[in-house]
Amino acid sequence: MDIRGTDTPLLDWTGDAIALGLFENETALTGELSQLDEKIGKIITELIEETEFEGKSGSSAVTRIGGNSPIRKLMIIGLGKRDELSLDTVRLGAATVARLGKKEKVKTLAIQFPVVNEDKGATSAAIAEGMILSLHQDNRFKSEPEDKPLKLETVDILGVGEQTEAINRAQTVCSGVILARELVAAPANAVTPVTFAQTAQELAKDYSLDIEILEKEECEERGMGAFLGVAQASDLPPKFIHLTYKPSGTPKRKLAIVGKSLTFDSGGLNIKGAGSGIETMKMDMGGGGATLGAAKAIGQLKPDVEVHFVCAATENMISGRAMHPGDILTASNGKTIEVNNTDAEGRLTLADALVFAEQLEVDAIVDLATLTGACVVALGGDISGLWSTDETLIEEIKTASEAAGEKFWAMPMEEKYFEGLKSPIADMKNTGPRPGGSITAALFLKQFIKETPWAHLDIAGPVWADKEHGVNNCGATGFPVRTLVNWVLNQ
Ligand code: BES
Ligand code: MN
Ligand code: ZN
Repeated sequence: MDIRGTDTPLLDWTGDAIALGLFENETALTGELSQLDEKIGKIITELIEETEFEGKSGSSAVTRIGGNSPIRKLMIIGLGKRDELSLDTVRLGAATVARLGKKEKVKTLAIQFPVVNEDKGATSAAIAEGMILSLHQDNRFKSEPEDKPLKLETVDILGVGEQTEAINRAQTVCSGVILARELVAAPANAVTPVTFAQTAQELAKDYSLDIEILEKEECEERGMGAFLGVAQASDLPPKFIHLTYKPSGTPKRKLAIVGKSLTFDSGGLNIKGAGSGIETMKMDMGGGGATLGAAKAIGQLKPDVEVHFVCAATENMISGRAMHPGDILTASNGKTIEVNNTDAEGRLTLADALVFAEQLEVDAIVDLATLTGACVVALGGDISGLWSTDETLIEEIKTASEAAGEKFWAMPMEEKYFEGLKSPIADMKNTGPRPGGSITAALFLKQFIKETPWAHLDIAGPVWADKEHGVNNCGATGFPVRTLVNWVLNQ
């Protein structure tokens, strides 16, 4: 699928289908649209009337244009209210167009959408993202793909000029999102700590990133007792992955992105019971998957910011070597942890990963983790929790996420709740009481950061979609690669 911007006037465009974006309660056609309507025998007016189309966000209608029209099909796409227009409106509208185009077996398509904030580049990029991400289908594990190959060959975004750079950029970002989706969707017998590390190695090779993979012995030397405690029951070796993107000149800033990378979470001896969703726990490397996805995009986009990508990859398994509930582990910063629940393993792996990231002397650290079911209870499936003690970092992530169309909600870092993690025998326990479970998890992580501005993203909800929605298809979403990339690029 070739996506390109053009200044070909609407009335001159010819091809299989044309998609027109219309605002809510503004379906009376004017200007070019009314001229096009006249040209094709009032088909647009007819379609609007027939389908009682009001332009509501998410709505759409399609019709064939008969006669000898140079355009075969017409789609109208509701974009919601004009004053609520955003890049995400356009992105979601484009996803609707893409799905209709696929269903209608369209080969050549034109999209005429309003430009957001007079930014033709950003608008074109959002359209490209909406189309690419909604059309992405993972057939890797099917012996026969269910759906027929996509017919869509060319998409012309009308009225934006060429926009080659913006569209290429969007394609690059999407390649990172798709890598994250594929890593998350792959089962735990395909994505293991070993294959996950291989993927990181391939990225390093393809995009000239530096890579360091600490094997178990090196993790031992560094005293990563928390990470290794989680890893000890697995038959597979843990891999502590550190990828670095370095710009050619002097970096403006140095950042670290740290992703929870549990290729499977059985819960350990506090095993996940029936109805716990244990069979979905291949997604527990969602943070690491998005970290590698971001590395893939950033390695190609080449901003003048140094970025470290850190993934402590392992499985949380059971065996005679497994951590016992109640074991005490010592993390690489010397803090001791009483493991009162082996299923709160993500924070143990992150503890050592955060200590490692801070030793890199970066200006800011963001961790992302499918950390708690409690966060899903609090914010549902579409919104990630965001914790930080640094107001600037909160603002940066909010700005990055709004442009990306990925949702975050700032949550309280309520120090008082750390009381729930007090241990009579060690420096802390790894779990507190059920209420506020996502907050105590964030407070636990905070023990492993000294002074670097740091944000924690609990992405347990949005890494996975139960049904097709917006740019996401059912399954892995690639959340929050787009936010991470924007964050780095905005520095
Ligand atoms: N990986 C899970 C969290 C999770 C739950 C991710 C649902 C995605 C969907 C995490 O390791 C975990 O098991 N957390 C426990 C913590 C508890 C033992 C304090 C949880 O949320 O129940
Ligand atoms: Mn767990
Ligand atoms: Zn987990």
